[in-house]
Formats: sequence, C-alpha cells, structure tokens
Amino acid sequence: MKHSKYSVIIVGSGIAGLYTAIKLSETINLPDGILLLTKSQLSESNSRYAQGGIVGVLPENKPDSVSLHVADTIKAGCGLSDFNVVKFISENSQYAIKDLISYGVEFDRDSKNGLTFTLEGAHSVRRILHVGGDATGYGIEKALVDKVRNDDAISQNISIYEQSHAVELLIDSKGACRGVVAFNEVTNEFETIYAAATILATGGTGQVYKYTTNPSVATGDGLALAIRAKADIKDMEFIQFHPTALSLENDESRFLISESVRGEGAKLVNDSDEYFMDSHPQKDLAPRDVVTREIYSQMAASGCGHVYLDATLIPIEKFTERFPNIYKTCLKNGIDVTKDYIPVSPAAHYCMGGIKTSIDGKTSIKSLYAIGEVACTSLHGANRLASNSLLECVVTGFELVNTLSFSNLEGSDVIDDAILAILKKYSSDEQDGYDEFDVKLAISKLKNTMWDNAGIVRDENSLLLALSDINKLWDSFGRDRFCTTAEEFELRNLLHVAGAIVNFALKRKESIGAHYRSDYVQPEIAKSCEVVHGTSVPVK
Ligand code: SIN
Repeated sequence: MKHSKYSVIIVGSGIAGLYTAIKLSETINLPDGILLLTKSQLSESNSRYAQGGIVGVLPENKPDSVSLHVADTIKAGCGLSDFNVVKFISENSQYAIKDLISYGVEFDRDSKNGLTFTLEGAHSVRRILHVGGDATGYGIEKALVDKVRNDDAISQNISIYEQSHAVELLIDSKGACRGVVAFNEVTNEFETIYAAATILATGGTGQVYKYTTNPSVATGDGLALAIRAKADIKDMEFIQFHPTALSLENDESRFLISESVRGEGAKLVNDSDEYFMDSHPQKDLAPRDVVTREIYSQMAASGCGHVYLDATLIPIEKFTERFPNIYKTCLKNGIDVTKDYIPVSPAAHYCMGGIKTSIDGKTSIKSLYAIGEVACTSLHGANRLASNSLLECVVTGFELVNTLSFSNLEGSDVIDDAILAILKKYSSDEQDGYDEFDVKLAISKLKNTMWDNAGIVRDENSLLLALSDINKLWDSFGRDRFCTTAEEFELRNLLHVAGAIVNFALKRKESIGAHYRSDYVQPEIAKSCEVVHGTSVPVK
C-alpha cells in the first residue's frame, strides 16, 4: 500500500476547500505542504452550482447593517442559530468579499462600477452579490481554481489528487486524526495519507433524496467519514428544500431556478392562476421553508407535480442579463420565460446540520476540522438564510487558517495499534467475501424512501418506515462490507447520512424551520420565530 505525508490534507474542492488551501499556502510555512484531495475534478463541486450569490454586508450599501443581517438570519433560522456565530460571520463579510475580489473574483457591477446587490427570500434588504448574473458559484470557483493551478507562489505548496475518495479517517489510539486512507478510482489503489491536520470540506448531502438541486457528487462523504469516526454531529433534521427547481416530466434532475428570480419580481402561480404567496406578509420572498410547504400544499391540492413561476413580470432585457443560464436552460427545454410559466417544484438543496464545529472548524476529534456545508457552526439554525453559506465557507476558512498558524504542522507517520489495524484492513488480500450488489438499485430505493418518508413533511410513522428501509439496505449491503468501488463508497456514505437525518428527525418532536412534523404542528413555535428587524437580540 502506498503512503505519503503532508502538513494538511483538505478533502473537497468546493469554495471552502479551495479558499482554505490558498489562504494556508500564502499565510503559513508548511513543512510538508498541502494536499487537495477530490473525488472528481478540481473544478467540480456543489458550490459551483450556486446561482444566487453570496451575502455581503458592506459599508457602501447604506440600507444594510450587521444588525439587520443578524436579525434576518436568526429569524429565518427560527431562533436556533448561535447569535455569536451569526454576528461574527456577518461582521466579517466585508473582509471576506474583499479577499475574494483580491483573488480575482469579478462580482457584477453597475455602469458606475459599483457592486450590484440582489434580493432573496427572507432578506429585508438587497445585500447579495453575484457573478455572471446567475453563475456566482461557478465564477468564484473558477477564480479560485485558477489561483490554485496557475499562481506559482500559491500552487508550489499544493499537491492535487483528483478522482480520489477519502474512505476512512486515520484515528490513532488516543482518538486524534492522523490523516486519511484514500481510494483512487482510476488505479483502484488505496493510499495511506498522513497529515498533521485533516480538513473536511466535502459539501452537501442532496443526493440522499430523489429530487435535489445538488450535483451527483453531493453524497455526504465527509459527514459519513465523521459519523464512522464518532465525531459529534448536529442538527441533521434540518434539510432545506429549495422551493423552485425546474420540474420537467420524466426527468428527475432538478435544475435550480434561483430565488433571486423572485427577488427581481417573478411570482409563484397555482393551477387556478392565483399568486398564492400573496397572502403571506413577505409574499414570494417568505423564508424558504414557508414557501416550500406552501408549494407542497398547492401540489397536494391540485394533484399536479408542480406549480409555476411567472417570470413574465420581469422585463426580458433584465431577465436575460441577470439570469442568462436560467434563460438558456428554460429555452432548451421549450420554455420561453417571456411568455411561458416555468414549472417548478421543491427539491433537496442544503443541509443545515453536519459535523459540529466551532467558528474555526474545530470538531470534537483532535486534528480533524470541517468547513462549509459539511460542518455545522450553528449559523443557519433551523433554516438557512439564502446566500449565507458561501459567506460561511470563506469566513470559517479564514478562521481555520488563523488557528492552524498556531499549530505544529509537521506531518508524522508514526503508527500505533489503532492505525496499524486500519492499515492491515486495507492491505489484506482477504477482503473479497461479499456478494455482487446492485448499488444503483439500492441508491434509487434509498432516495425514494427518503423523499417519501423523510422529506418536506414527515411524521413518526413515515420516519420509522424510512429507518426500516435504511436498515434493510444496510443488511443486504453488509454493514462492514469492504467497499472496492467508488459507487460502493458513495452508497455507504449515503446510508450513514440518511440514518443520521432520520434519527435526528425522530428525536425532534416539534415542527420548526425546515423540520416539519405533521404529528407535531405547534403554531406557538412558528410564532416564536418572530424577531423585530433592526435589533440584534437573539430569539429565545
Ligand atoms: C438560489 O439562488 O436560490 C440559491 C442560493 C442559495 O441557496 O443560497
């Protein structure tokens, strides 16, 4: 079995992983360098698909302030966000944006070269920056990949492994993380990679559901690694379902129709041509969980698999300039947004929970860190405020680098009994006692049961049904199966993540934010989510 040694391993090449790699490389002297490990290509990740944008609470945006952003975040999160975390991230957003600009990110600007801000659900003012209209994730990712690959001062410290899956954390006898075992899906080889610090930046879990806006890579890999290593996990019952994914017949993929389309004036319409969100105080820009549940009831009432988005309310010149990709994708599917309503339905979009971390990414396991969607800093509470997540990636990445600058980052490949046992497992020739297994079928069963039973609306019976299906899949797959293909590793990860979502959802016997239990509908909880704008008081 091959082995190697680095100062820091970063697993995942989304915006959190790339930004942290760059910042580490330019800030700290790393005796053994950085390894960026990705199971796909460097430029493929969940964040690449983020359309709407990134929150920037900037001094030049006069109507905005930190206290307003904090209040919006806490209100959307139904009071479950950590006030200090929200405040810290909000206060640091101006520096995060400046940093991204210095790394080559070109946010959209007006004719006077001022940054342009858009609006999304539950934001009380325009504060969201975007790139290329509706290609913010792609724009940021592209600038960061360019820096990692082509800026010699940065790239000299960074090695890149593509098509390599981190399949196990190297946890030593004292419970500290010493690196990972990686599986290269091209050579089918395992490699032991030692590191002084291991950072999980693997993104989201959307692929656990039948319908998701997330790309195929979003299989909860880092979260599953942490679950297997018994790290503390938090808030997994809170899965955000985006209200408006393009819903086409006989097509399970769900292309995102950004919330900022509603921010620029589009409205949701039902079968009877009614703008059904008009009855809510925040209309079409109510928090995502609220809009999603309203669409869910409209769909249940009409028996139709979607509602519509009326984007004809936006002048065509504005639509094509602000949303060029959405315009093209709709047209490619026979929908002319200047005349036709867009069929939309909710789809799994973001996991508010994850590996429990502090603001600098520390987990409950020594030398293991997590940042971005895989982590749970408690910024989002029960429901994420749109476009807060990319900001969180940057601020927590910065803080983590600061923390690591005080650590000894000399890689060590000392092997104790616990690590030896892991190495033996991956070096042994006697691991092939498992039957052939139809991984695709199992994933499809898992996605169906999660969508039907642990989705937008759940109750105890449906969650127990999901749990029983997950357990059956585990039994046929083999809980201790020695996986030997990328698909098997992903199925194992999805099963761990699905189990965590269902178990957390069973434990929370109330409805709050994105966790809606039809057997525990508590209007008083919905009421307690109210917070007065402009204050910076956490809701209790
Ligand atoms: C969107 O553009 O609607 C998604 C943005 C986000 O999830 O933050």
